[in-house]
Amino acid sequence: MYELYAYFTNDGSVGLFSPEADDIYHSTYGALTEAYEKFILPANLDDLFKRKSEIKVLDICFGIGYNTKSLINKFLEILYNEAIDVDNNKYNSKVYTNNTKRKIFIHAIDNDKILANLSPFFVAGKDKIINSRLNFKQDKIKRMLSGKTKTCFRLKKETEIILLDKIKDYIDSESEKILFSKKYSVFFDSYIIGLYKLYKMKIGKYAPLRYLNAFLHNIYYKYISCSYKKALKVLKTVDLNFELNIDDARSAIKNDTQIYDLIFLDAFTPAKCPCLWTVDFFKLLYNHLDNEGMILTYSNSAAVRNAFMHAGFYIGKIYSERENKFTGTVAVKNKSLIKHDLSEFDLGLLKTKAGIFYRDKKLSALNEAIIEQHKKEVENSDLISSSRFIKQFGRKNDI
Ligand SMILES: C[S@@+](CC[C@H](N)C(=O)[O-])C[C@H]1O[C@@H](n2cnc3c(N)ncnc32)[C@H](O)[C@@H]1O
Repeated sequence: MYELYAYFTNDGSVGLFSPEADDIYHSTYGALTEAYEKFILPANLDDLFKRKSEIKVLDICFGIGYNTKSLINKFLEILYNEAIDVDNNKYNSKVYTNNTKRKIFIHAIDNDKILANLSPFFVAGKDKIINSRLNFKQDKIKRMLSGKTKTCFRLKKETEIILLDKIKDYIDSESEKILFSKKYSVFFDSYIIGLYKLYKMKIGKYAPLRYLNAFLHNIYYKYISCSYKKALKVLKTVDLNFELNIDDARSAIKNDTQIYDLIFLDAFTPAKCPCLWTVDFFKLLYNHLDNEGMILTYSNSAAVRNAFMHAGFYIGKIYSERENKFTGTVAVKNKSLIKHDLSEFDLGLLKTKAGIFYRDKKLSALNEAIIEQHKKEVENSDLISSSRFIKQFGRKNDI
C-alpha cells in the first residue's frame, strides 16, 4: 500500500517527506506559512484583482495543495473585504456570497494522484503538535522541527470545503484506503472526512437522518454549518474554476493552451528534480505567462535564475519580512513588476559554474539523464567555481 511520511510542521499544518526524492515537501517551520510567504504574499493578489476581475493561476507541483488552498483563502479574504461597507464599517454577508465580479481559474498539476486526492483532508491548524509517530528520518526531521512558528495564517473552513467540492469526484478507492486508515487518522480533518462521506452517500433530502444528526453533533453544529452554508453560497455564486491534472508537468503544460497571470513553481529541489528547472521548461512557461504575469518559486539557486534569464525573463528576489532575508525568486516579462532586484553578488554568481543550468531539449528526459548531462557540462566548463568567486567577491553579505 502507498505509504505517507507525514508529520506536523511548526505552524500546525501537516508536512510530508519523500523517501524517493530524499527530500521534504514542506518547510518544517510551517507548510501553510511557507505557502503564504513564498507564493501568496509576493503575488500581490490585492493589486492583481484591482487590475483584473478574472485571474488564471497555474499551480505546478500541487502536492497536497497548500499553495492552492492559500490562494483560495486569500481570494475569500478579498471577497470578504469587498463586502465591508466602508461607510459604516459593517460586513454584509449578502455582498460576500453574491460577489459575481470576481473570477478565478486554478490549474493544478502533480504526478502523484494519491497525494492530490488527499489534499482537502490534511489538518492545517493543529494546536498541540505531537510528532511521536515520526518513524522516518527521525534525527533529520526532529532537528529541523526545533523552534516554533508563530501561527499567523489560518485556513477558513470554507476554503477546505471548497477544495473538497472541487476534488471529491477525483478521489479513488486507493486514496480512500489511506484516508480511512487508522494509521494516518491524526493527520486528517475528521470534519472534512465526514463531509466527504456525506457527499458519497449523495446526502441531501434523502439522507438517513440518524447518520446526519450524529455527524453534525460531532462537528460542533453551529460553527460548521455556518461555514458550510457560506461555502455553498460562494460555490454557487462565485466563478471559481479548478482543474486537476495528474501528469508530468512538462506534458501537461505542452498540451495546455491557457495564459496565466500567476505560476507557482514548487518542485523538489533542482538537484533532485531538475526536469522542472531546465531552461527548456522555462521557455515553455514563457509562452504560458501573461505579459503582466509572474512566476514565483522558493529557489534561490544561481542555475535556476540563470535558466530563467536565458529563457527570456527578468528576474527578482522574494523578500521575507519574518526571516529578514531573501527566500525565493520571481520571473516576469515586465521588469517594473520586480520589487527586489538581484544584487551585484547574485549577478556575479550567475557567471560561475554555479550558474550552469539544466537542459532538457525534448522536455521528456529522465531526471538522472539531465543530472548526468549537467555534471559533464560543469566538468568541462572554464568558468570559475562559485567558491572562488565568493572568496574574490568578499563576504556573502546579501544572500
Ligand atoms: C515540494 S512538493 C510540492 C508541495 C506542494 N506545493 C504542496 O503544497 O503540498 C513537490 C511535488 O512535485 C511533484 N512532482 C515531482 N515530479 C513531478 C513532475 N515531473 N511533474 C509533476 N509533478 C511532479 C511531487 O509529486 C510532489 O508532490
